[in-house]
Amino acid sequence: MIVETPKIEFRDIELCFTAEDGAKVQVLDSVNLNVREGEFVCIVGPSGCGKSTLLNIACGFLKPSRGQVLIDEVPVDQPNRRRVFIFQDNSVFPWLTVSQNIGFGLADQSPQEKDEIIRRYVEMIGLTGFEHAYPRELSGGMKQRVEIARALASGPDVLFMDEPLGALDWLTRLKMRADLVEIWRQEKKTILFVTHDVEESVQLADRVVVLSDRPAQIRAVVDVDLPRPRNLDDPEYLRIRDEIFELMGLDHHGIEAAKV
Ligand SMILES: Nc1ncnc2c1ncn2[C@@H]1O[C@H](COP(=O)(O)OP(=O)(O)OP(=O)(O)O)[C@@H](O)[C@H]1O
Ligand SMILES: [Mg+2]
Repeated sequence: MIVETPKIEFRDIELCFTAEDGAKVQVLDSVNLNVREGEFVCIVGPSGCGKSTLLNIACGFLKPSRGQVLIDEVPVDQPNRRRVFIFQDNSVFPWLTVSQNIGFGLADQSPQEKDEIIRRYVEMIGLTGFEHAYPRELSGGMKQRVEIARALASGPDVLFMDEPLGALDWLTRLKMRADLVEIWRQEKKTILFVTHDVEESVQLADRVVVLSDRPAQIRAVVDVDLPRPRNLDDPEYLRIRDEIFELMGLDHHGIEAAKV
């Protein structure tokens, strides 16, 4: 039997913060999870439960109080260029053009290689013609695409995304979800994606990890075994979505409200 080694392994993660009054606040409790190479995993859970904290630990920004995260079987103890983190608030550099932003992390390539990589990603995010535009000339959705392209161009094998579409309006968000699925299909990166939007998680992920209230434990891991791009009217899609709503403790009215 071939046992596949996980790309990312969370081993018994616990995290406590010390509050200002000296009290201990436990945020994560016994989190165990394996993520396969090339897998798209979404993490959902109530606000303040510890989603960002978990991602920060996986990326090496924070040390757990107990347990460890391994990537390619190596314990994570600091951030690394092979893994990039995309935040909710856009952090493209305002003083650089679209091309310069995308090429920012490319230090080891020849100028020709660099141009080729930039061209490829500009095309992938649909911003051909905007290569020399500055962020102030772009919409929120365009800026977020530049951010994603910049992250991908630096050649990471793991992407950590913390509500990367959270600041966008609903329509742009829908479009960006579809774009993200397409980019992931082309690039086959391992993605760990935090969202509090259940619909978003079922549209994007191979598996959805549902966290409990703080201290967060894994309440359930739900497989989303549906072909992409996903048909949002498919009864199986709706069943999985409602199952996750229920796991998050939303009653029937919550589910109905969320459908509107
Ligand atoms: N540096 C810190 N020091 C103390 N407490 C912290 C720190 N960072 C986060 N916390 C606490 O840890 C808990 C989890 O925070 P976290 O940001 O991980 O939640 P989240 O699930 O990402 O929430 P949201 O959905 O609102 O983004 C919160 O109660 C927060 O107050
Ligand atoms: Mg958060």
